[in-house]
Amino acid sequence: MGENINPRLAEVMSALVRHLHGFAKEVQLTQDEWDLAIAFLTRTGQICSEERQEFILLSDTLGFSMLVDAINNRRPSGATENTVFGPFHVDGAPVRQMGDCISLDGKGDSCLFEGRVLDLHGEPIENACVDVWSDNSEGFYDVQQPDIQPKWNNRGRFVTGTDGVYRFIGIKPVSYPIPDDGPVGQMLGHLGRHPYRPAHMHFLVTAPGFKKIVTHTFVGDDPYLASDTVFGVKETLIAPFEHVRGETEWRSPFDFVMVPEERSS
Ligand code: BEZ
Ligand code: FE
Repeated sequence: MGENINPRLAEVMSALVRHLHGFAKEVQLTQDEWDLAIAFLTRTGQICSEERQEFILLSDTLGFSMLVDAINNRRPSGATENTVFGPFHVDGAPVRQMGDCISLDGKGDSCLFEGRVLDLHGEPIENACVDVWSDNSEGFYDVQQPDIQPKWNNRGRFVTGTDGVYRFIGIKPVSYPIPDDGPVGQMLGHLGRHPYRPAHMHFLVTAPGFKKIVTHTFVGDDPYLASDTVFGVKETLIAPFEHVRGETEWRSPFDFVMVPEERSS
């Protein structure tokens, strides 16, 4: 490296090269394997577009996204844990009234999601924005089926009042495969791995003065819970899904606990 290199760049690149060389030495990488890796990374880049980010999918399926998230989001016990953001969030979802239904296609088992946004002392947080999104009952997000699903299907933002309460009706989420028609899908196939994610509801919770929470709640009896293809499951994020006889068929209570911005990392 030359002189006057940014010290962080020097640290990161030195470690990267050291580990890359260590990896090649450990497995005694052959020329054919090197060719194959270059071809794989080339295809991974070539399939990327405005709508598709295959490199992030690669990072997700190697457990790397969750590792980087864990390094950067150490939180005190009691605070809600993060998990992978995923590619299907859309900015600017409609702000809905508390209790509104986000499922616009009328399919799936209706489920009431409710709880409170709290600080570490259990006090409610006012003006928290709870941004939610999920797949439909067939396992697709609206953006994957723009000609089939209504725009903003299974999405919405809810802003808490003084009681910190959020409440909305969605559907009980179902498990679905990540996009597996590209190089990452081929890699999973070669490794004998399935492409499925266990059923989950996505949450992005933000509030003034607090560190944002990027997370999901998971359905506890999902068959893919122990083998999530992106390693996103955390024990504390498995939420109750109770069968109820009311306006909805299911109810899933879950509180979010936020950390003040200055206490983060
Ligand atoms: C998701 O949950 O939406 C997701 C996360 C990572 C990769 C693909 C999908
Ligand atoms: Fe998802």
